[in-house]
Formats: sequence, C-alpha cells, structure tokens
Amino acid sequence: MKFFIDTANLDQIKEAQDLGVLDGVTTNPSLMAKEGITGKENIIDHYKKICEIVEGDVSAEVIATNYDDIIKEGEELAKLHSQIVVKVPMIKDGVKAIKYFSDKGIKTNCTLVFSAGQAILAAKAGATYVSPFIGRLDDISTDGLNLIAEIRHIYDNYHFSTEILAASVRHTMHVIDCAKIGADVMTGPLSSIEGLLKHPLTDIGLEKFLADYRKGNS
Ligand code: E4P
Repeated sequence: MKFFIDTANLDQIKEAQDLGVLDGVTTNPSLMAKEGITGKENIIDHYKKICEIVEGDVSAEVIATNYDDIIKEGEELAKLHSQIVVKVPMIKDGVKAIKYFSDKGIKTNCTLVFSAGQAILAAKAGATYVSPFIGRLDDISTDGLNLIAEIRHIYDNYHFSTEILAASVRHTMHVIDCAKIGADVMTGPLSSIEGLLKHPLTDIGLEKFLADYRKGNS
C-alpha cells in the first residue's frame, strides 16, 4: 500500500519524507487555507515546493466546477510539474473532465467520493485514483471502511486500473484496516503514519535491552 500524506504543511511533508516511507501528497483547498496559502501565485508556488520535497504524486485540486474551466485549470496545474495529479470533484462536469484528462495522459484523482456508484463512474472515466472519504462517512455514522471493501470488490471484478486511494483517514487503525481490505493507497495526517510505530512492548523491550547493556558496560 502506498502512503500519501494529507496536508499542505511543508514541515510535516518533510518529516514524513525523512521517514523514508512516503509515496506522495494530497492537498485540498481547505488544507491550503489552513496553512495560510492564498492567491493563485502563492498556491502554484506552494505546489512546486511540495514537488521538490517528495518524489511521488502530488494531488492539486481544481476550484472550477464547469467543464471548460476544469479543463483549463487542470491543464495549467498539470504543466507545473510532472508529479502533479489533477484532483477533480465527483460531479458531472468533473467526470467528463476526468475522461478528457485520461485521454490526454494527464493523471487525475477523483475526489469527494462517497458511494460505490460514484467509484464506478470514476473508474469508467479513467481516473488514476479514486478518493473515497472514509472519515467523513464515519462522521455521519456510516461505515467508511465498508465502502473501501465494496469498491475493491467491484474494481477486482472488472480489472479496473484506477487505484483506490482511501482518503479522510483519521487515525492509525484506519491505515491498518485499509491495508487489510486492499486499498492501493491511503492518505492521512502524519500522526496516522507515525502511530504505526507505536507498541508498548517495543518501548519496554528497548528500555530493558539498554538497561542490561548499561549494567555490563558502565
Ligand atoms: C482527500 O484527498 C482529502 O484531502 C482528505 O482526505 C479529506 O480529509 P478530511 O475529511 O479529514 O478533511
């Protein structure tokens, strides 16, 4: 499973990159706003900075919601850097635009996916990634992980090449459960990745090893 970090925070992206397990980055307009990145030039500049830190795919979301403008904005974003993946919302004009980008060889991430039906459409349109938002489904008392399982089943039935990018991951158990189900990618906060490190027996065991070493070497 690929690990993407879901943030526009450069320090956190660097930290995840330094761990050596990062495969890419996803951003969205809310995450950019959270970092105080506003205005077209600053946003473009920020995407370039992210691409310099990581080696993998960097999702950059379009703001436009009508077909012509999505195409224009997506093409501009794709030209910024070879790592840019154009993130397009799951709306009618978005699906049409994904088909256009796919035919042109431009990578896409179909975002704001909340149902298996939407995931089928994204795959049929040729999306590189489909992003089901599991945390936001959990928030409304709907099983987000079940959606990942449904999409996995459907994509396997038809050998769709679209990668399932489990998005809106909130914690480490989401990461592990997505891996069990067979999500191709997960995107979450740095804490969800670093949480994988933790086990109390590791800490207790290490403390004991070091104490025993000190006893014999002091
Ligand atoms: C997906 O790419 C989105 O950026 C993201 O995962 C949304 O997560 P949230 O529900 O935590 O905002």
